[in-house]
Amino acid sequence: MNFEHKVVWIIGASSGIGLGLVKAFAAQKARLIISSRDSAALTAVAEQLEGHTTCTVLPADMTDHPGLAQIAEHAISAYGHIDIVIHSAGVGQRSAAIDTQLPVYRRLMELNFFGPLTLTQHLLPHFRKQGHGHVVAVSSMSGLMGFPLRSGYVASKHALKGYFETLQVEHTLDNFYVTIVSPGRIKTGLSLSALTGNGTPYDKMDKGQLHGIPVNECAHRILKAISKKKKHVIIARSERLLYWLRMLIPPAYYRIARKRGLADQQ
Ligand SMILES: NC(=O)c1ccc[n+]([C@@H]2O[C@H](COP(=O)([O-])OP(=O)(O)OC[C@H]3O[C@@H](n4cnc5c(N)ncnc54)[C@H](OP(=O)(O)O)[C@@H]3O)[C@@H](O)[C@H]2O)c1
Repeated sequence: MNFEHKVVWIIGASSGIGLGLVKAFAAQKARLIISSRDSAALTAVAEQLEGHTTCTVLPADMTDHPGLAQIAEHAISAYGHIDIVIHSAGVGQRSAAIDTQLPVYRRLMELNFFGPLTLTQHLLPHFRKQGHGHVVAVSSMSGLMGFPLRSGYVASKHALKGYFETLQVEHTLDNFYVTIVSPGRIKTGLSLSALTGNGTPYDKMDKGQLHGIPVNECAHRILKAISKKKKHVIIARSERLLYWLRMLIPPAYYRIARKRGLADQQ
């Protein structure tokens, strides 16, 4: 792996997988742009990197879609170009479909799907002009199969995977790569901010999240997948088995997914 001097823009950099990626790319001496809504948290991250690598803080709300054209311009002007952009901003869900209000579905789609889609659309002309580019979409195993209490989240990640897989198939730009990342459970605070049926945060660290794969291991595997220009990488433990069951023995998948999803909340 060699990312030295590469310009890497990480969105969702203030915590969790995004923050893990910031540290992993900083160790590789990549030049960074870091984004999320929380400018104080981003500034604290950038201060920790001082003396290790160059880091530009660019606060952005990925649900402010009209503002993303200008954000993309600011990001490009930070170092004159962008080599890699990573979409890691996202929000989870913990509510049965029957208890979930319609605006909650919209919020999940606005951030998890329309945010990365809108920003990527603004960056494609830049990648065409400079003759190369790499977009990384942090999707989920929930982008590959249904899972209890996550109907809107699952829908948003299926949509995300659908858009980026189609970019891969269209293949209209030279030296342009898309890597789709499908993590299973990673040990982050995703369940804390996950939306419940009325839109309030779930505010609990659930069992699945707590015993998930460590963030640094997840980040290392994402860097490896990017350096190999992989189209798709799954970073998971037993969820991987569930995915195969869905394809090979669907009745077992329905039974186990239901049981596992509900047990996670305990
Ligand atoms: N952890 C897992 O088990 C797991 C599994 C599969 C997929 N994923 C995916 O991995 C990605 C990262 O999640 P995580 O687990 O690292 O959770 P996390 O620690 O909660 O990180 C979420 C990130 O998204 C940012 N964010 C939230 N709303 C935003 C907005 N409107 N605009 C810009 N940034 C926003 C947050 O920063 P601010 O609050 O500062 O804005 C934060 O940096 C998500 O897409 C998630 O779906 C996670």
